[in-house]
Amino acid sequence: MSITQAWTDLLGEHELAERGRCFARRDGHEIALFCIEDTVHAIADSCPHAGASLARGALEGTTIQCPAHGLRFDLANGCSRGAGGGLAVRTYPVRVLDGRVEVDFGEAAH
Ligand code: FES
Repeated sequence: MSITQAWTDLLGEHELAERGRCFARRDGHEIALFCIEDTVHAIADSCPHAGASLARGALEGTTIQCPAHGLRFDLANGCSRGAGGGLAVRTYPVRVLDGRVEVDFGEAAH
């Protein structure tokens, strides 16, 4: 079985770096993007607990805290930290190519 990747252009690398985070909607996906210490993370914007937008959450290192009920997720792997009952947010493969941030919606990173 082969896995093909289809990269979708979302925005410029510099725009994300300046803003630090952004929300994007493409092809039926709602994505929260974060640029932390020159690394781009892409996660589903919807919290797996009750669907709140994670793009507006408080950030501490690479941990995002949901603004609704406070669950925390690691941006690198989507796993919950602390209380979270094993919930995980979907993460997406992301790359920067020619100054553009691209995400692969086809395969979840976990
Ligand atoms: S909706 Fe995110 S913790 Fe409840």
